[in-house]
Amino acid sequence: MLRSHTCGELNISHCGQTVTLSGWVQRSRDLGGMTFVDLRDRYGITQLVFNMETNAPLCQDARKLGREYVITVTGQVTERSNKNPKMPTGEIEITVGSLNVLNESKIPPFTIEDNTDGGDELRMKYRYLDIRRNTVRDNLMLRHRMGIETRNYMNQIGFLEVETPVLIKSTPEGARDFVVPSRMNEGQFYALPQSPQTFKQLLMVAGIDKYFQIVKCFRDEDLRADRQPEFTQIDCEMSFITQDDILETFEGLTKYLFKTVKGIEIEKLPRMTFAHAMKYYGNDKPDIRFGMTFVEITDLVKGHDFKVFDEAELVVGINAKACSSYTRKQLDALTDFVKRPQIGANGLVYVRFNEDGTLKSSVDKFYTEDELRQWAQAFDAQPGDLMLILAGNAGKTRKALSELRLEMGLQLGFRNPEVFAPLWVVDFPLLEWDEETRRFYAMHHPFTSPKPEDIPLLETDPGSVRANAYDLVINGVEIGGGSIRIHNKELQKRMFSILGFSDEDAQAQFGFLMNAFEYGAPPHGGIAFGFDRMCSLFGGSDSIRDYIAFPKNNAGRDVMIDSPSPIKQEQLDELKLKINLPGF
Ligand code: AMO
Repeated sequence: MLRSHTCGELNISHCGQTVTLSGWVQRSRDLGGMTFVDLRDRYGITQLVFNMETNAPLCQDARKLGREYVITVTGQVTERSNKNPKMPTGEIEITVGSLNVLNESKIPPFTIEDNTDGGDELRMKYRYLDIRRNTVRDNLMLRHRMGIETRNYMNQIGFLEVETPVLIKSTPEGARDFVVPSRMNEGQFYALPQSPQTFKQLLMVAGIDKYFQIVKCFRDEDLRADRQPEFTQIDCEMSFITQDDILETFEGLTKYLFKTVKGIEIEKLPRMTFAHAMKYYGNDKPDIRFGMTFVEITDLVKGHDFKVFDEAELVVGINAKACSSYTRKQLDALTDFVKRPQIGANGLVYVRFNEDGTLKSSVDKFYTEDELRQWAQAFDAQPGDLMLILAGNAGKTRKALSELRLEMGLQLGFRNPEVFAPLWVVDFPLLEWDEETRRFYAMHHPFTSPKPEDIPLLETDPGSVRANAYDLVINGVEIGGGSIRIHNKELQKRMFSILGFSDEDAQAQFGFLMNAFEYGAPPHGGIAFGFDRMCSLFGGSDSIRDYIAFPKNNAGRDVMIDSPSPIKQEQLDELKLKINLPGF
């Protein structure tokens, strides 16, 4: 027997028992006659004690143990004289009677403790050591719990988990596909699914009226903290439903996860239209943990010889409550913030509503105090407040102000990761115009149904057609998205034509789906949650990497297994692939 207990479970009630523990040496300390070793496994740490007086040879063996050696010890649970209330096992220690070294270890490249000295890349390279650390292990445990609870809930409400293939034909989600060459079909490629979108719709035609799957998806896109090339979705689809049914069902899942995993009761989720979110938050994923919503003052400020405002399509600002005491230095820093190329504003106008009731602005040359007072009214500002205003092209300005609002939210402590403010954003536009290619793209995907009342506008004013599409947003993060689908072949054809597909293209790419729709497709719709994002949100981190056992770095590389990597010429020959790169 290599262990009778784990390193996390022994306490004062076990005193006097003889136990066997196995694990890794976290650290050891020699204090003259005694040697203390912290033994770690997945469950915790237990202190081992070796006594020079009672068993000198054993104590000498213990002194030779290096960090991360794998050992088994047998000994007696004894009460500690020097208790550690911070550790679950802190009241006891094991007085060791026998020690067996199961394996030695090289000195690890970074310390395997909560606060490690290892940088990101190094920890990624030795991820198996990183996972020994409490924080990373706890993240994986949270992920496990989220997965189990999701399956429990979906099962309880009658959903069937069905696996869909990984070697498929490309799905049009908008990102690039990862492709896999086929040896048996020369010159042809599979694509890895960006999502199981078309398969789940086929499952609806097949009569599996409540489907879900915790599934890997692959997208060859630029990476960020909340994006990995290979990520996981909780993918769901239902038949014979309305948009309300979907929102209710998945509001249920969201509440259930918050309750069971975090112990948090969530109230009914508010619903906000896309148009409202853009107007008041400048963002289709508003962080509603705090207010500071946008106030448009374009009409109020024009005609005072201030060129920036006179030429602007939109003048819009936020009221930072109780911030009138912001120093010049702080305001300059905010100006620099909005002028950063990623944000792209030309400058920042501010108005201080001083505690004494006077108003002072960065544009005093153009506006009287009375005029500023009218602005203050529009902002519903009180003495002590600070108004921050941007101007320019409407879209860009809203985007920049959204960043400034989030920055102010951060500075003012409104973005507490332990506070959760979920909402549904609904009524997304069906289509997005792209200036460069001068054509419309599906904002969600081409299978999303337009709102029935907007269908007549499809050909006359496509840009104004709203979709039956929705996103679940929590704390400014898009956690999930979905839509009611088109289940009528003719409407689907119209959609493809608006998206610029010829009949032949549409048939070649999606014939399988359109054909299926000829055999009795039920009305259906669904949603997919970003599972990694959900885990990182629940865990209070911005980076989904921390919640993935073996993630890729920002260049899409797995630095541990060193992938992607070249393949042998024989493999290329077998696949009849020629690589046109220097050196090949
Ligand atoms: P969508 O493309 O919105 O919808 O994706 C759903 C959710 O998946 C997460 N997500 C990602 N997470 C990590 N890394 C990525 N690269 C990444 N890309 C997306 C987001 C997102 O909200 N088939 C549709 C769903 C449907 O219509 O039912 C789809 O995939 O949290």
